[in-house]
Amino acid sequence: NEIKIFSPATVANVSCGFDVLGFCLDNVGDEMVIKKTTEKGVKITKIVGANLPFETQNNVAGVAALAILDAANADFGVEIEIYKNIKPGSGIGSSSASASGTVFAINELLGKPFNKQQLTLFGMKGEAVASGTEHADNVAPGIFGGFTLVKETTPLKVVQLPTPSELYATIIHPQIEIKTSEARAILPKDIPLSKAVKQWANVGSLVSALHTSDYDLIADSLNDLIVEPYRSQLIPHFDEVKAAMMNSGALGGGISGSGPSIFSLSKGKETADKVADAIREVYSKTDIEFDIHVSKIN
Ligand code: HSE
Repeated sequence: NEIKIFSPATVANVSCGFDVLGFCLDNVGDEMVIKKTTEKGVKITKIVGANLPFETQNNVAGVAALAILDAANADFGVEIEIYKNIKPGSGIGSSSASASGTVFAINELLGKPFNKQQLTLFGMKGEAVASGTEHADNVAPGIFGGFTLVKETTPLKVVQLPTPSELYATIIHPQIEIKTSEARAILPKDIPLSKAVKQWANVGSLVSALHTSDYDLIADSLNDLIVEPYRSQLIPHFDEVKAAMMNSGALGGGISGSGPSIFSLSKGKETADKVADAIREVYSKTDIEFDIHVSKIN
């Protein structure tokens, strides 16, 4: 009648895959406790670590919970406690962690009637409260784990991709807030065909590289010609961080979601740790506070 879960952080876009690719971190995330109540409805009873709304309709977890309980025609309600370790606006899927964690947990309490595609749909309802759009590129990897590709949102089709066993992510979160809506507003509405061709070639080759654990091809595919040139301007010291990542052996990297977090992928934990040291050095010289995470993708 009560479930305690870890709800992972996620990296959306993965450079070339704007709005379609994402991956799930292993050791960075929120905790949530969800209790069954005889009374129907959803109450958010505790939020630790972030200043978020308690009203069910305005809370990502609240809306996601209502969506799944409604669809199941549940004869019970829930109380939700949220312990946020992922800061809102960090670019590593803070809102979607609340959404995906909630629907995963409630599905367990219901006796698992829903599959992962369905859970992603309920989670997207919650995600929309925070970001304004029902995008799935953070919710899907949170629910499925590993790498996912959102082939379509209506109707939803998530494709699960394999994760090469030695792949690690290093992520820096500079503690400034970038609103996803603003980071979307600065993007061009039209893009030249020549750039689009290069971008979808990279998406295709990255997907192939994940299937074949071809680390060189992963490195060659992690480029974003369309979004990064605009959004990187919102992130202090982006170019220095990226250079430090590449110089210390990362396969590649870029903006995590809509930023400000910056991610890189490396082959092996040793390299991922070296990348962490190199980017720590860059940001230690600034007066911006930051966190750095090294995580397996899972
Ligand atoms: N794909 C979305 C974007 C993710 O980049 O705007 C936002 O979390």
